[in-house]
Amino acid sequence: MPAKMFVDSTRDESSLRVGIVTIMISLQNITKAFGDKVLFDNASLMIREGSRIGLVGPNGSGKSTLFSMILGRAEPDSGEIERPTKARFGYLAQEPETVNLDKTVFELATELPEDLKAAEQALHEIEQRIHQLDQQDDAPERSRLLLQMGHLQSSFEMLGGYELEHRAEEILCGLGFRVSDFKRPARELSGGWLMRISLARLLLLPQDVLLLDEPTNHLDLESVLWLQRFLLGARGTLLLVSHDREFLNNLVTSVVDIDHGRLVEYRGNYDGFLEAKTQRRDQLLAAKKNQDREVERQERFIERFRAKATKARQVQSRIKALEKIDRIQIETDPDVLSFRFPQPDPSGHRVVTLEGVVKRYGDLSVYDGLDFTVERGERLALVGPNGAGKSTLMKIVAGVLDVDKGRRTIGHNVQLAYYTQYRLDMLDSEATVLENAMRSGRRHSESVVRSVLGRFLFPGDEVFKRAGVLSGGEKSRLALVKILLNPPNLLMLDEPTIHLDIQSVQALIEALSGYTGTLITISHDVHFLRQTVNNVVRIEQGSMRRYLGGYAYYEEKWNQEQEALLAARTGETTPVKPPPVRVAPDTSKSDPTAEATRGFKSKEQRRQEAEHRKRNGSSRRKLEQRLHHVEARVVELEAQQQVLVTVLEDPETYTRAELAQKYNRDLQQLQADLDRYNAEWEDLVEELDGMD
Ligand SMILES: Nc1ncnc2c1ncn2[C@@H]1O[C@H](COP(=O)(O)OP(=O)(O)OP(=O)(O)O)[C@@H](O)[C@H]1O
Ligand SMILES: [Mg+2]
Repeated sequence: MPAKMFVDSTRDESSLRVGIVTIMISLQNITKAFGDKVLFDNASLMIREGSRIGLVGPNGSGKSTLFSMILGRAEPDSGEIERPTKARFGYLAQEPETVNLDKTVFELATELPEDLKAAEQALHEIEQRIHQLDQQDDAPERSRLLLQMGHLQSSFEMLGGYELEHRAEEILCGLGFRVSDFKRPARELSGGWLMRISLARLLLLPQDVLLLDEPTNHLDLESVLWLQRFLLGARGTLLLVSHDREFLNNLVTSVVDIDHGRLVEYRGNYDGFLEAKTQRRDQLLAAKKNQDREVERQERFIERFRAKATKARQVQSRIKALEKIDRIQIETDPDVLSFRFPQPDPSGHRVVTLEGVVKRYGDLSVYDGLDFTVERGERLALVGPNGAGKSTLMKIVAGVLDVDKGRRTIGHNVQLAYYTQYRLDMLDSEATVLENAMRSGRRHSESVVRSVLGRFLFPGDEVFKRAGVLSGGEKSRLALVKILLNPPNLLMLDEPTIHLDIQSVQALIEALSGYTGTLITISHDVHFLRQTVNNVVRIEQGSMRRYLGGYAYYEEKWNQEQEALLAARTGETTPVKPPPVRVAPDTSKSDPTAEATRGFKSKEQRRQEAEHRKRNGSSRRKLEQRLHHVEARVVELEAQQQVLVTVLEDPETYTRAELAQKYNRDLQQLQADLDRYNAEWEDLVEELDGMD
């Protein structure tokens, strides 16, 4: 056990070194089944030291189980797993671990693993003993202790024990925390941010083997990019479960596919794997076609000559030959039964109204006077940049988050349900899948519930599993089934497709296609959004804009707008006058230049102007407020622009062509926005000047 390794002073120092231990995990003829469900059937895999492997397979195929077996937390039914005992294994579980919520972000991120804690403790004890010996002057014992302390210190140093705080800061910031968050207690954070802390703690120390189960589910794009860079630079062996194609493509040296109980390794990146797998399937299909044709020919022969005594021998031999043929099996997608989900009673016309909502997190203002209305039958997608406040808005609408100011009014007869990947507490882990689904709150016959479960890929006896043992994706599906069996008339889904495999996403899309209630959703899955919503609300910098059409319409409109902004900018001729310096005009003080100009005006003119100013007092205040807002936006946009430029200057960014393109597009958008705001700023300044 690593904990022992560290405090054992009799050990050779070199064996403590990380990276020198040769790591080779081998799995040989592994079999693992839960009841009738066979996850691994004679599966073998050799994991080379320093390789970065992407582990893929549909929901419930056994990815997380394989991790548990590699970690020694679960045993295979048969077969051998060999792993070096001296290696450090770092593991990020798919679901959030329980942490002490009273601790701060920084305390949690720098919490030492048991072995390092023991090493630290041992160091402390040795120091004390040396100190005591000083007085008694026992020279041999003293040098023995000093030597032991030296060993411990160097291994502690090797594991980065002395620079933890500095590294922790770097990692936390890379994962999207602000320095001002470090002191926040964990209980103020959402599930996604807690996962980021767990990830930070893992990355803090060098690991020989790092097992990450869907690490990108909780990260925004920038943090994904940071993590990718970090992992590319890290030593050790990496095993990764992820649905993020780009992330896998840029990181992995091979892909291991769980394919009907076998572990099939494909060297190269994820795209290469997909291509190879498609080719393999095409080849199999072609082979199966040939086989089918051959079988058919034999069967025709048998049929034709069965009655003829002269051919009896040939017929018999062909029957035998047919029996011997090893038929090629190709898994086809399970049949999707057509099923009409129950529908909710209609709500009133106004489903929810927010008026003047103010929401802040510490000194971060997310909404400052937001008005928002949702009407019956709308199917809204909330979109916008990361951190714009989409989930916050959904939580406010759902009533799970209080606002600092403003009103939330729920319409007549509205029943709502709110789903996120972190709200799996809606399942009873001791009850079976079927029992959980039966407790949807609406009476359904068992056969109806079973057919819905079947549609969400819980076939046959799978429905008798305890919910507690389900895989991440299976839990999400069950929670969704429970909602769909008793749908509310206001359904809120925050990232519902996370953890779901392609088939489950399709089942959800189909279930939602017949839904008659009001839907609000947030998703990064463009395919899902295109199929489900009829209205898009873009949230940015605390304000929102509606696009009255489906997601494809929004995409088109958004692109057009960006192009128009760009064109407006490039179409501009040389500025007529030098742009004014960006400082808010201080209208309370008299301006000496203005005084001088004023000197040329008649008394009457000045009186009229004063009158006019008075009348325009309120519109002036409005203009000033707008001016302040525009200035703040310009400052923010310039900061964002700076970040993007830095990222785009980094050669690493171009290892992900799609991402680099996206960042370039973002930069163009930003520049267009900046131009728009700058133009508005000039107009406002001019207008205010004109008032003077
Ligand atoms: N203790 C258990 N008893 C019964 N079944 C179990 C147990 N543990 C896991 N399973 C089942 O084994 C299958 C594999 O689970 P696992 O968590 O490894 O899947 P996964 O590939 O990680 O899926 P996902 O993509 O949804 O995370 C699932 O069908 C799960 O229900
Ligand atoms: Mg899993």
